[in-house]
This record gives sequence, structure tokens and C-alpha cells, in this order.
Amino acid sequence: MKGKLITFEGCEGSGKSTQLKLLAQKLDALGVDYIMTREPGGSAIAEQIRAIILDGKNTAMCDECEALLYAAARVQLLKEIIIPALESGKLVICDRYVDSSLAYQGIARGLGEDFVASINSAALGEYAPFMTVFLDISPEQAFSRKHGADRDDRMEQLGMAFHEKVYRGYLSLAEKYPRIRRVDCSGTKFETSDKIWKLFKESGAVAKDK
Ligand code: TYD
Repeated sequence: MKGKLITFEGCEGSGKSTQLKLLAQKLDALGVDYIMTREPGGSAIAEQIRAIILDGKNTAMCDECEALLYAAARVQLLKEIIIPALESGKLVICDRYVDSSLAYQGIARGLGEDFVASINSAALGEYAPFMTVFLDISPEQAFSRKHGADRDDRMEQLGMAFHEKVYRGYLSLAEKYPRIRRVDCSGTKFETSDKIWKLFKESGAVAKDK
């Protein structure tokens, strides 16, 4: 595989979208050959799966179904978009990936990391991220910055206790997988963006002199 896959993770409202925009500006300015995509979604089929998962009316969805749908959307995005981009040598940036499933479905929902790993073998094996940037901010701080949850989003409707479990889940994943790099987000968005850029250089995702 010629390209590198870098994933972004964090709790709801952790500022991923803002950071990804700032990152895109830097990559554009340098003329880096990259694509940016997101999960769940990122391809026509995966976006349809996303709509089912996040639909606030789907209150009867069981946890296993949810985990399998995220895994289905992921493998579709992987085969349709991510693998071809990596093979053509591009840098691939993905907004959420397999660690979201480990933290939300495996740990917070309680399905277990083994179950989630078993249905996501490609994303943890051959197509594991080269580096994962974890935007480290607690759900309380994140929600207060964002002024509350989106009432139409099935995942955001889950209470604070659930999001606390997700956060603790991420912290334990960061201890386990050295590819996960924690970025303290307590400063300004520009300070956080600088920390992320430093990781990109240190890891070799972009040239060190950039
Ligand atoms: P989205 O609106 O993209 O949220 P965000 O901006 O926070 O990324 O919705 C994605 C939601 O799906 C979010 O609540 C996290 C959740 N999710 C999982 O529970 N498992 C997964 O594997 C993925 C990719 C996302």
C-alpha cells in the first residue's frame, strides 16, 4: 500500500469538523495529494446505511444491528473509496473509523471489544490506521461548547452517562494502541490545529520540513 490512512476520533462536539477544515487548508496550501472522507458514510451506499443508523425514529434498533450496520458502512467505504485511494498513493483522512465502533458499540454499548473487532477485521488488520488522532476533551466540556445535543440524531440523544463511557473507552483504547495519539483540546482551535500538524510531521504523514 503506497498511501497512509489517518483517522480522527473524539466524542460528540470535540471539534473534529473544525480541525479537519483547518487541516485541509494546510494540506491544500502544500499541494498534498489527499482525500478526506467520513464515517458512517462517505460513499452513496454507506450514506444510505448512515441514514438508517442515525434516524431518530429507529428507536427499536438493537445494539448488535447498530454495530453490524456501522461495520457494513465501513467495509463499503473501505473497498469503494479508501483502498483505491491508498493504492494510488494518496493520503487518506477519515473522520471516525474503527475506534468509534470499539468505543461506542464495544465499550459504551457493552457489546465487548472482541465482538466489535471480529466484525471489523480488515479495519484492525491490513487496513488499520497508520495514525489515529484522538481529540481529547471530556463530553461535559464538549457539550457546553456546542450548547447541547441534536434532538434528531439517535446517537446524540443518548445521555451524558453514555458519552462519559465513550470518552473513558477512548482513553483505554489510547493506552492499548500506540497508533492512537491523544491531542489535548483545552486551548484555542488554532493551538489544537498546531498540535495536530506537529503529529503529522513527527509521524511522517507529511514531510518533516513542512
Ligand atoms: P456524526 O453526525 O457524523 O457525528 P460526529 O460529528 O460526532 O462525528 O454521527 C456519527 C455518530 O455515529 C456519532 O454519534 C458517533 C457514532 N458512531 C458510532 O457509534 N460507531 C461508529 O463506528 C461510528 C463510525 C460512529
